[in-house]
Amino acid sequence: MATQEQLELSGLIKSVHQRLRDSAKQQDPEAVWKEHVRDAGLLKSYAEAMHKLATCYWDRTMEVSCKRSNSRIEWVVASCRSYFHGATPLLYLFREKDDKVMQAIDGIGHQPDHRPYTIDRIRLLDVGSCYDPFACFPDFDVTAIDIAPACASVWHCDFLEAEVLKSLTEPLISVEHRSIDAFPSEQYDAIVFSLLLEYLPSPDQRLRCCRKAYELLKPEGILLIITPDSRHQGANAKLMKNWRYTLGLMGFGRIKIEKLEHVTCMVYRKCIFPAVSKRWCDIHREAYMQPVLNIPQDFNESKVDRREQEDEMAVCRTEEDEGEIREAFAGLPFLDS
Ligand SMILES: C[S@@+](CC[C@H](N)C(=O)[O-])C[C@H]1O[C@@H](n2cnc3c(N)ncnc32)[C@H](O)[C@@H]1O
Repeated sequence: MATQEQLELSGLIKSVHQRLRDSAKQQDPEAVWKEHVRDAGLLKSYAEAMHKLATCYWDRTMEVSCKRSNSRIEWVVASCRSYFHGATPLLYLFREKDDKVMQAIDGIGHQPDHRPYTIDRIRLLDVGSCYDPFACFPDFDVTAIDIAPACASVWHCDFLEAEVLKSLTEPLISVEHRSIDAFPSEQYDAIVFSLLLEYLPSPDQRLRCCRKAYELLKPEGILLIITPDSRHQGANAKLMKNWRYTLGLMGFGRIKIEKLEHVTCMVYRKCIFPAVSKRWCDIHREAYMQPVLNIPQDFNESKVDRREQEDEMAVCRTEEDEGEIREAFAGLPFLDS
């Protein structure tokens, strides 16, 4: 049962998200965002609330001590390890799979010249990190960024505004301001968006973040997206399929999706050949699909709207979807924001 403090903390977080979305419906979302990131007092309160909620309630009481496998943080770590390391790293299996698709597209014209993907530590960029939850894993080389860092190891950075420069191999930092202004392209093995996209009030801003992640990842690197989802399995299946379509057009192939009790967790791979993920889009395109990253809250502003939306979204899942969403387990008590 949620304590009074827990309700107050998640109430503050939800109200910030809600206010941003409401303002972005009435005004230019870019202007709304610029004003938001200047509101130092609000950002500080949000950061403190989020930090406390995550570490005192979610991580400690709900996730780690009760069921370690519930943790979104552990999920990200385990997914990265099995993709990059493991006895047979999944990366190589997906590489083979992609080659088969390319052969189907190109015939014998496809002659891949692959090199081993060798890394020592997994270079991970945690966007919207808040409290740097991946810092404690020694096999990860973490850069944690946030518009409102909740601890000293997190760099100040608005990912929407950060530049991507081909000339860099390391982020362009200001030690004085503990900030990052620009990132090198194609240098990261993994990028994490944990509960980030729903903070951004407009679908275009979410899309921009994903495009930037694409630029920053090495070919075959992975984008891990955790999104709040407390509803029954399949309720958001159509929306999630539209994300797959949208990110597929960008060159990302979805390789894993798991619905936990309160979140949906996904891994997207930056395909070496964008034609591979685009082919998925061509084959699976349905009439409703559009290149847009909506979240349920874009539609569900009233209970009535929400019910209508539920009817709209509660589609029959295909066998493929069923297979992908098979591994459900109890999860993060993130009250729908
Ligand atoms: C709901 S919190 C999630 C925190 C953490 N990732 C977790 O899973 O517990 C979302 C975080 O994203 C940060 N954020 C939102 N937009 C951002 C942006 N454009 N650039 C960097 N951080 C951002 C917020 O300040 C906030 O700390």
